[in-house]
Amino acid sequence: MGSSRGEFMISKRIACIGAGYVGGPTMAVIAMKCPQYKVNVVDVSEARIKAWQTDNLPIFEPGLLDVVRAARGRNLFFSTEISAAIRESEVIFVSVNTPTKTFGEGAGKAADLQYWEKVAREILRESGSSKIVVEKSTLPVKTAQTMENILNANGKKVHFEVISNPEFLAEGTAVKDLLEPDRVLIGSRETPQGFAARQEIVDIYANWVPKDRILTSNVWSAELSKLVANAFLAQRISSINSISALCEKTDASVQEVARAVGMDSRIGSRFLNASVGFGGSCFKKDILNLVYICESYGLQEAARYWESVLAMNEFQETRFVRTIIREMFNTIVGKRIALFGFAFKADTSDTRESPSIYVARKLLEERAFVAVTDPKALDNARIDLAGYKENLDFVEDPYEAAKGAHAVAIMTEWAMYRSLDWENIYRSMEKPAFLFDGRNVLNHEQLYNLGFNVYPLGRPPLKHF
Ligand code: NAD
Ligand code: UGA
Repeated sequence: MGSSRGEFMISKRIACIGAGYVGGPTMAVIAMKCPQYKVNVVDVSEARIKAWQTDNLPIFEPGLLDVVRAARGRNLFFSTEISAAIRESEVIFVSVNTPTKTFGEGAGKAADLQYWEKVAREILRESGSSKIVVEKSTLPVKTAQTMENILNANGKKVHFEVISNPEFLAEGTAVKDLLEPDRVLIGSRETPQGFAARQEIVDIYANWVPKDRILTSNVWSAELSKLVANAFLAQRISSINSISALCEKTDASVQEVARAVGMDSRIGSRFLNASVGFGGSCFKKDILNLVYICESYGLQEAARYWESVLAMNEFQETRFVRTIIREMFNTIVGKRIALFGFAFKADTSDTRESPSIYVARKLLEERAFVAVTDPKALDNARIDLAGYKENLDFVEDPYEAAKGAHAVAIMTEWAMYRSLDWENIYRSMEKPAFLFDGRNVLNHEQLYNLGFNVYPLGRPPLKHF
């Protein structure tokens, strides 16, 4: 079987519906690693697809352009021809967005599955042969059941096997995470057809992922594991953030505490950096989803437990703004405050659920003048703050952003902020000059010696008065 494409025989045709942060990089890596497969990435958004066809990719991700260029036009194709891609593929990954529902039953908590269901119906309509449908989006446990019900309630003689293959990549490190994953999880029905479909997906990843890192499970465990992994990661951040508040009251240092705690091999050192709060498109959405699922099974105590992880995150954001206002003599009206960083983390242009959005809004409501700077995320920042017309400036150059400012607040841990000429920045600012380090990335003693009043997270402030 298979047809010839240049020097390779095409042995599998893969489609991916949804060319976003997950679909694009995931498929680019599969195509690069597997020249024997033809990979079609499709999306309803023409703008996104056009961008994938150029070197100005729609998302910023270190190393991604090289991966795309290695396969694009060879066995990796981006298009809006969704129907054609469905028809010609044996395996269809679905990586559309699954945001929190904003209306009706479960509003504010449950996952909004309308995009998913639309895709399922499109797959059903266009398919003339049996296919494996792979859930790449993060979905509530038991979604595969619904999908199977929709897909297999057809008069056609085609069968759909639904596989759960959740994605664990983090933004900013997507390429590395895909090339060297901690694990790949593939869940299927435990039937002969389910096992066969599972093996097909295992075979794709086995082209570059060591066998002992490819985990298989039943489909429900795979769906649930994805929500739980994000919930556990977020819970660690909320745990250390709660301790940062206590450290500020007790002269302890949250970094020293995190180090001491994290050196216990049972606890581990990662994801223990106190911050102004976690952001990103998924932690909040997936925890809300978990809470909703617990509630719908009558597990109120489990729901409240996970809800508290989000409450702690909100507390941390609110606390950060309150500290700014209180320490700047209880008024920031008319004061220029420079926000260094708007992306929800370093090395991405993504600002979804970024704590910077909340902080900027609160400062503007207090009638401060907010200058936003970020090396990659200014376009998104402009969209996020589109409702605010006054007292707001977007500046490429951090030195310009800080000029004449009363305060600088570090919001994103961009490496470049560590190597800025802080003496120069201090000179250009109003005095007393304040520095609020929402990521604990700067050398606080050095800044204090330059004249700044420094407010680290989870450590008593270093101030000159
Ligand atoms: P995204 O919004 O960047 O991309 C989703 C894409 O799907 C969009 O381009 C949209 O136009 C397209 N789409 C929506 N409906 C469509 C339809 N009917 N037909 C064709 N295209 C359609 O989202 P994302 O960040 O890539 O996330 C996708 C899923 O992966 C979500 O469930 C998310 O929870 C999960 N996830 C995301 C990350 C991450 O780092 N962003 C990591 C792991 C898992
Ligand atoms: C997260 C998970 O790490 C991925 O495994 C998962 O696939 C993904 O969500 C998803 O499902 O979307 P991501 O949101 O891209 O990835 O980035 P993270 O590195 O997890 O950071 C999330 C937020 O937590 C960021 O705002 C980051 O600054 C913050 N964070 C992280 C901290 O405040 N402290 C830490 O110690 C670590």
